[in-house]
Amino acid sequence: MKEGGPQAARELLDGARRVAVLTGAGMSAESGVPTFRDAQTGLWSQFDAVQLASPEGFRADPALVWRWYAWRREMVAKAAPNEGHRALARAQAEGRFESLHVVTQNVDGLHQRAGSADVIELHGNIVRSRCLAECGVAYAQPQDLPSGEPPRCPACGDWLRPDVVWFGELLDPDSLRAAEETCAGADVLLVVGTSGLVYPAAALPTAARRAGVRVIIVNPHLSEIDPAAHLVVRGTAARVLPALLGGEPESPAR
Ligand code: OAD
Repeated sequence: MKEGGPQAARELLDGARRVAVLTGAGMSAESGVPTFRDAQTGLWSQFDAVQLASPEGFRADPALVWRWYAWRREMVAKAAPNEGHRALARAQAEGRFESLHVVTQNVDGLHQRAGSADVIELHGNIVRSRCLAECGVAYAQPQDLPSGEPPRCPACGDWLRPDVVWFGELLDPDSLRAAEETCAGADVLLVVGTSGLVYPAAALPTAARRAGVRVIIVNPHLSEIDPAAHLVVRGTAARVLPALLGGEPESPAR
């Protein structure tokens, strides 16, 4: 692994036909959506992950968990895609590479709102809800009940829950398989704004590197998966991605 600027990353990208992009919460930080593990500002430094992001926590206090997701949904609705999201969508739309596919751990839908197509959402989407009893029904955001409790599934009457992956739950196998194939089948994998602490997403860069993919990490800070990278660009998503994918290179700012 070595550190370098956008120019070194552009050189790796210049020869690439298939590009995969794996994003985490840092991708949306400059849109005003907090990450999970950044000290001070990360959600898990202020809230209890087990209480708010696990099936047990939801069963213990559905109204509390539903309110917390309603607050996050509102925050995400007010946020706008940043220059990083837009640079990825633009590169895909303009056919800068033979293929450019985004795999995200984010549940905020900002890649899609920027215009990226066929985004693989590994951890679900906060805007959707689904039945806790898994009767198989997924819903666009239903009306909240006046009691503050979650709405009920129209099909079976159990609680509706956010359609996101909670701690202790398995990822959708089709999405995971598609993510593995996308990352390992690329010439270059760009890994943006993830701490690399949550599996199985965190295993994707190492698996891709083993498959011969050139791995570039974009992150202003050290991450757990830096050793999987051929090149680490220390900078933020909204500054570095336009410099990597756009016209003239710029120097990254933190
Ligand atoms: P984390 O909060 O663990 O990590 C965020 C990463 O983004 C850190 O490495 C930061 O250094 C980096 N970062 C911060 N600001 C950035 C910026 N402007 N540009 C680029 N990078 C920046 O978030 P994730 O790795 O996404 O799971 O966390 C993985 C999963 O853990 C999440 O999907 C969520 C959480 O629990 C579920 O919801 C299932």
